[in-house]
Amino acid sequence: REQQAQAATALAHPNIALIKYWGKSDERLFLPRTDSLSMTLDIFPTTTRVALAPGAGHDSVTFNGAPAPAEAHRRIVAFLELVRERAAREVRAVVDTVNTVPTGAGLASSASGFAALAVAAAAAYGLDLDATALSRLARRGSGSASRSVFGGFAVWHAGLRGGTPAQADLSSYAEAVHASARLDPALVVAVVDAGAKTVSSREAMRRTVATSPLYEPWARSSAADLADMRTALDAGDLDAVGEIAERNALGMHATMLAARPAVRYMSPASLRVLDAVLQLRRDGTAAYVTMDAGPNVKVLCRSKDADRVAAAVRDAAPGRPVHIARPGPGARLLPGER
Ligand code: PMV
Repeated sequence: REQQAQAATALAHPNIALIKYWGKSDERLFLPRTDSLSMTLDIFPTTTRVALAPGAGHDSVTFNGAPAPAEAHRRIVAFLELVRERAAREVRAVVDTVNTVPTGAGLASSASGFAALAVAAAAAYGLDLDATALSRLARRGSGSASRSVFGGFAVWHAGLRGGTPAQADLSSYAEAVHASARLDPALVVAVVDAGAKTVSSREAMRRTVATSPLYEPWARSSAADLADMRTALDAGDLDAVGEIAERNALGMHATMLAARPAVRYMSPASLRVLDAVLQLRRDGTAAYVTMDAGPNVKVLCRSKDADRVAAAVRDAAPGRPVHIARPGPGARLLPGER
């Protein structure tokens, strides 16, 4: 059955965590120490085509039309190995990824990237996986990718601790979370610096878990934040969602600042945006920040306030791109190819 070349193309969007994933319990299996919860965005999609290449001696990977950088290439080939193992097939593949998000800037390009790759590679290799299985698979490329399989809001379960590796793997996946339609949120994304980050999230997590005295207290409070967040989403209470998201994210950054040596992703420009958000709140606009493994700032607000919030953020970060995102769709196969 390897004679017949198969190809599939998938589309996925990035997600931004409102309850953060920070710290692994198993680096090889991408098992997180804590549960996390995110919103999938409707901007910056990744489109990935996987075409089986019978007779090829190796995989080939392009990123926006050029050969993928060495580290991305290595991670994608490792992911394809996993898919081949599941499919019990050896045939290599040609992977073409078109990313519209600046790579490595704390904007979760790896989330949309591995969610799209999981969906496309599973289809190309003939694996028939449901959303749970796709989420579990995407997790092995990048933890946060497990959540981009779903649209809207998704929770990623850390899963079982103390079982066998196979049990742990099976128990860690994302699923959709209900949010009231009343929430009607927007996320204003300030691209404070689109350059690649200096410390990878993998290294920063490792260092934080190993050396930060603030890590365990944050992980404990994050479990409480998650429970509160689910209640707030269900009630459509944007202020509660924003307050919980902001404290969870700033707490995560505090764990890193206390790591040895410290990891600091906030830049002076990030802090100016944080100040602008405080001013918006003083002036009566609901606006709350979250930040990931980079200097960019995402501001959660009501959809109707998004333009005003974006204007305030532009004033605080002149010349920097500012985007308005709303909840977006889950990863999906594009029709037309097999
Ligand atoms: O993109 P990853 O899977 O290496 O992890 C990124 C983690 C954060 O973006 C900082 C938080 C999160 O939950 O997405």
